Amino acid sequence: MQNTSSVQKFLTILKMNKGPLFLVGCCVFLVLAFLYYFYIPPATDIGPEQPIPFSHRIHTGVKEIQCQFCHPYVGRSNYPGIPPVEKCLYCHKYIIPKHPEIQKEHNYFNTKTPTPWRQVNYLPEHVLFNHQRHIRKEVACQKCHGAVETMDRLKGVRFKMEFCIQCHEKEKANLGCWLACHN
Ligand code: HEC
Ligand code: HEC
Ligand code: HEC
Ligand code: HEC
Repeated sequence: MQNTSSVQKFLTILKMNKGPLFLVGCCVFLVLAFLYYFYIPPATDIGPEQPIPFSHRIHTGVKEIQCQFCHPYVGRSNYPGIPPVEKCLYCHKYIIPKHPEIQKEHNYFNTKTPTPWRQVNYLPEHVLFNHQRHIRKEVACQKCHGAVETMDRLKGVRFKMEFCIQCHEKEKANLGCWLACHN
């Protein structure tokens, strides 16, 4: 009896203070929403949005197009490069040419604008890295870039020195990094 009456008392207090309680509830919600968006931004988890939602999963996973078809200089130059729009149109003149995203490509092509792809991989400036030596030793792209063929959007990666060192130790590659990797 005592119990139910105290519960009832509590409920009447709640009812009397509906307005302020509602406001407090709203504030708590806003604070949580704010924290969520600024501290756990969902978008950075899947990489930056690109001008055309190009998917490595579709192209390399499902359609099995070789990496080097689109990144041909990876074994030869320090800059593997991102394919120019001509390369996309090589296929997309015929494949889903009316798709709105492919229309955007035509637009870039016709106006001679390079597609403003956003770079996702970064190395600190004092690091000398080149792909050639690694590709020649058949280090798989995935060892460093992850399972690209399963990703729609590529995630940003900031390579750390440990990452280089760990593999160089394991593979007995050059560890004289002050000579080899730093300028
Ligand atoms: C070797 C051929 C080839 C090349 C090169 C190519 N694609 Fe594709 N692309 C395909 C195929 C095949 C599909 C799947 C079409 C389908 O779903 O019917 C596709 C699908 C797409 C789609 C639609 C994905 C979706 O959500 O349905 C987009 C957007 C796209 N490609 C963009 C690009 C861009 C940008 C480039 C250049 C960087 C490019 N493609 C280069 C073959 C190619
Ligand atoms: C059909 C063309 C195509 C194929 C095939 C392809 N890529 Fe790409 N790649 C692109 C385009 C376009 C971009 C830039 C847009 C983006 O980041 O998604 C890119 C970006 C990248 C980047 C990020 C570059 C940076 O730092 O911004 C990496 C790493 C990469 N590709 C690796 C691979 C690997 C590994 C494979 C094979 C498993 C592969 N790519 C196959 C077209 C292609
Ligand atoms: C040993 C590690 C390693 C391997 C193996 C590797 N990459 Fe990279 N890749 C990197 C690093 C580190 C960067 C960033 C380089 C920079 O910012 O100068 C990078 C950058 C890139 C970029 C962006 C370059 C640009 O011009 O912006 C592409 C595209 C790429 N890699 C494709 C590939 C492909 C395709 C393969 C396989 C054939 C591959 N990578 C194998 C470490 C690797
Ligand atoms: C998954 C393994 C792996 C990772 C990760 C890796 N490397 Fe290497 N690297 C190798 C191997 C194997 C060689 C040896 C190539 C040879 O003997 O020709 C090599 C060779 C090199 C060389 C040439 C050294 C020489 O003898 O002149 C440089 C420079 C280099 N790596 C820099 C880097 C940097 C910088 C990173 C990090 C961004 C990195 N590597 C990450 C496996 C790796």
